[in-house]
Amino acid sequence: MSIPVPHSPLPLGGRHIVLGLSGGIACYKSADLVRELSKAGATVQVVMTEAAQAFITPVTMQALSGMPVVTSQWDAREPNNMAHINLSREADAILIAPASADFLAKLAQGRADELLSLLCLARPVERCPLLLAPAMNREMWLHPATRRNVAQVLADGAQVFGPGHGDQACGEYGDGRMLEASELRDELIAFFQPKLLAGKRVLISAGPTFEALDPVRGITNLSSGKMGFAIARAAQEAGAEVTLVAGPVHLATPPHVRRIDVQSAQQMFDAVLPLAKGQDVFVATAAVADWRPAALADRKIKKDGRGRMPGLDFVENPDVLAAVARLDGRPYCVGFAAESHDLAFHAREKLVRKNVPLVVGNLGPATFGRDDNSLLLVDAQGDRALATADKLSLARELVREIANRLAAAQVAGA
Ligand code: CTP
Repeated sequence: MSIPVPHSPLPLGGRHIVLGLSGGIACYKSADLVRELSKAGATVQVVMTEAAQAFITPVTMQALSGMPVVTSQWDAREPNNMAHINLSREADAILIAPASADFLAKLAQGRADELLSLLCLARPVERCPLLLAPAMNREMWLHPATRRNVAQVLADGAQVFGPGHGDQACGEYGDGRMLEASELRDELIAFFQPKLLAGKRVLISAGPTFEALDPVRGITNLSSGKMGFAIARAAQEAGAEVTLVAGPVHLATPPHVRRIDVQSAQQMFDAVLPLAKGQDVFVATAAVADWRPAALADRKIKKDGRGRMPGLDFVENPDVLAAVARLDGRPYCVGFAAESHDLAFHAREKLVRKNVPLVVGNLGPATFGRDDNSLLLVDAQGDRALATADKLSLARELVREIANRLAAAQVAGA
């Protein structure tokens, strides 16, 4: 299914979503979901089953969505009295959240005895994707009947978001919680991104490294890891299988990304190198420490009254990017250059010295820890600036650039 991307600064700008609620306590999260989708730029038409209305009122959902809620296929407000056709023809996607066990069973059987299941069945399958956010007790989720129904709706082309794992309203603990509103918003945003890296494997290094001096101290830098994490998210949204090797940072792992945590440059090297050969792309965003103390003190280094720190000897760390770039059958390698001055000059010097096809330059002091950035792409053809934007937007643009270069390299190599 190819879904054109509307031009909007908001990630769901120009999208019209039919949000269907079937019965379940998770309906309380759907109120928040309407707000999240609206804030992301979507218009939201809410449709509720009778069971959903036992948990939350259409009044609440109308107030939040700014549109009358539709609850019946006999809704006389529709001029042609065909709510199921009209709603499903206007929608860019139908999202059922919560999707109860009973509703999944109805979908699996193709039943259509009330408006929500009717419009799911009546939707043009090629144009209007059906997205499901299950919510139910863990025993219901694990029941063979539900397993069968989920397999059937997936085989029929629906997509399933979640469910999550954790405390349940019934007091039990396990799989079956509906994803949080912000998680569902992000799943929807990801769903609409063009799948430019479908079937590709992308490895990313991110964050600073920490070089221990003694059991309580070490040397690190100001890299927050945000750019690398944003690239991991953007690559995953573009359909890639993503592995993120992260130095010490306090950031949530992007959804569906495999994360390997490391501390030191040597650990980053040891984690990346064995994985690198099987990858299509390696993006080295990590601010890897160039040096580490030659010896690690096994006890805390104490003051000795002389007013100076005892002399330390440093040795050079291995260069992760350069080592990956030397592999036979290496992935497409993208380096980063965090500089304080003469960005284009230093980025080009790294392109040559590390023998990689693309280096992305940024000014370290202007970007470390911030949510926005501006990038300079440097390759054999020349330089191209990507204007200041939030790191996720830049990451998506960079992913497009990488996908284009990958495709061009494959054509050239064919
Ligand atoms: N890099 C790496 N391993 C290292 C050092 C750097 O993988 N030991 C990678 C970084 O992740 C980045 C690129 O190489 O993609 C450039 O890193 P940078 O620290 O700017 O360059 P250096 O080679 O360390 O050069 P200098 O410190 O002289 O600027």
